[in-house]
Amino acid sequence: MTDAPQPPGAALGVCYYPEHWPESWWVEDARQMREAGITYVRIAEFAWSRIEPEPGRFAWDWLDRAIEVLGAAGLRVVMCTPTATPPKWLIDREPGILPVADDGQVRGFGSRRHSSFSSEPWLRETRRITEAVARHCGASPHVAGWQIDNEFGCHDTVRSYGAHDLRAFRLWLRARHGSIGRLNAAWGSVFWSGEFRDFDEVPLPAGAVTETLPAARLDYQRFASDQVAQYCRLQAEILRRHSPGRFVTHNFMGRFVEFDHYAVAETLDFASWDSYPLGFTEQFPLDAAERALFAETAHPDIAAFHHDLYRGVGSGRFWVMEQQPGPVNWAPWNPVPKPGMVRLWTWEAFAHGAEVVSYFRWRQCPFGQEQLHAGLQRPDRSRSAGGEEALRVAGELRAVALAAKPGPAPIALVFDYEAAWMLRIQPQGADFNYLELCLRWYEAARRLGQDVDIVAPGRPLAGYRAVLVPSLPHVSDAALAALRDTKSAMLIGPRTGSRTPDFAIPDTLPPGPLQALLPMRVTQVASLRPGLAHGVTGGLAGAAVRWREWIDTDAEMLARFDDDMPAAIASDRCVYLACWPDRALLDAAVRHVIAAGGGDIVTLPPGVRLRRRGGRRFAFNYGPDAWTLPERAGRRFVLGAATVAPQDLACWDE
Ligand code: GAL
Repeated sequence: MTDAPQPPGAALGVCYYPEHWPESWWVEDARQMREAGITYVRIAEFAWSRIEPEPGRFAWDWLDRAIEVLGAAGLRVVMCTPTATPPKWLIDREPGILPVADDGQVRGFGSRRHSSFSSEPWLRETRRITEAVARHCGASPHVAGWQIDNEFGCHDTVRSYGAHDLRAFRLWLRARHGSIGRLNAAWGSVFWSGEFRDFDEVPLPAGAVTETLPAARLDYQRFASDQVAQYCRLQAEILRRHSPGRFVTHNFMGRFVEFDHYAVAETLDFASWDSYPLGFTEQFPLDAAERALFAETAHPDIAAFHHDLYRGVGSGRFWVMEQQPGPVNWAPWNPVPKPGMVRLWTWEAFAHGAEVVSYFRWRQCPFGQEQLHAGLQRPDRSRSAGGEEALRVAGELRAVALAAKPGPAPIALVFDYEAAWMLRIQPQGADFNYLELCLRWYEAARRLGQDVDIVAPGRPLAGYRAVLVPSLPHVSDAALAALRDTKSAMLIGPRTGSRTPDFAIPDTLPPGPLQALLPMRVTQVASLRPGLAHGVTGGLAGAAVRWREWIDTDAEMLARFDDDMPAAIASDRCVYLACWPDRALLDAAVRHVIAAGGGDIVTLPPGVRLRRRGGRRFAFNYGPDAWTLPERAGRRFVLGAATVAPQDLACWDE
């Protein structure tokens, strides 16, 4: 981390591609950006072929002029390293940079992210270009900070299966396991006679006749995640050396769990992420009614969940580096956001603590891969509908000061990247999706008016009213200690403690180490195909869908399955839920623990959410009907009023 200057409480930004437009437009573009209330302009993340048109020949003049034009207009530049798009001449010279798919097919040049994090020539070239850009632009007074690369892992590029990857994986395995005997034991490779005599015999876990060893796949995912972290660190160190006093960040993605973002972000000053609420709503598994309700406004928890996740990933600080400004081009269907939504999403990001919301992109581009992706301007330079809404936010921001930090939330949700990998490696049920489970638990808390912090396992949990652990297959010593040390009420979900770090079933049966808090053993599990449900009655009612466990316990039974077996048990402050709950059961369970923790519950309609930032509270209406806040004296509205129209928001002091 650096002592880079902190931005004001909330500011707007935009992503700009000077190389896409005639230079004669730049001055006017910059002027209009200023006029539109924009402070930060991100540039150059895909500009390698213009920065270095031929090997070793750098063309800085145009970039210098672009930075100067933006700076002269009073804009702050977020400069990028261009490593998401290595140019053709480089790939022709060093084809070993290219990633390899799990079927052995080389993934070729022609789009972006065509590099493997383990390729030695790629690491060398990364150092070279990062150093060149950092040295050349790093001292500019207009450069406020840096974005490293662009969306690590986009287009499924975290794992690669080429010769460089294999070499690096074997080195990683040596460091982790020490001896081949220990690796064989850890992986259980005796199963199907898969033992190795030497690290040099170990293959990449792909291309086999059927399922490869799950522990090998888990190690491969950990390795691939570490490679991303190391890659990010490599660039961050160079940038810090040559561009002191500037922030360093990276723009992470939504719906993406292929590396451990907490670890990657350790070298950053703060996290950034790219928020495309409608695109994600299209891609997220929702039921038909929800999809119909939210297709043009977005599901109300998808962006919010990621804001809270990336605030956690960024140790309390985050930006939205790319904000959807209108239809995108990449989802199966790409609706126009309903009027008001671009403004609502922007304010919602600020309410969750974003320091900057930066729109993608300044102007819709009439050529290239993303022609139908909206910008703040249309290709003819007229202002788009999203541009009008951004302008409105800019005006409102001048009048509404925000606290620097949102402050701690009453609820913590423990989110673990390794859990996502473990549950995907042996899902046991086709629809056991970790991210979906977490989003549903988050949604249940948010529908009760709760603010949520998303935290890494092992981080302190003291001070929360309630802690939600949707599922945590491997409970590390640190995770156990954090759960043991908190006084909060806790809701623990299925499959928690069901695996050792080497992906074996614990000797004492699940929940393994968590038996220190929960006197129980899981003796049998079942996945439930769509349409199959096991009813749940008692203190919590609803049904198990997708997943159900059989529990052996003497603890208090809070709810039972139709066959009288425990569906939820309570021990001290801890409740264990032995299934994937349907909405009724989940709502009841989450309400139960929040009430047990003394939380202040407001029941909200499906499309309405609340969020606090400092002393200010916001309400956001994603739904089709107006919503009126419960009567309370002394509210002073700074935006909107007590009745919040659809696609509108309100903000008040409490
Ligand atoms: C992001 C990416 C941008 C652009 C955008 C389109 O994932 O970082 O470069 O492709 O999507 O929505």
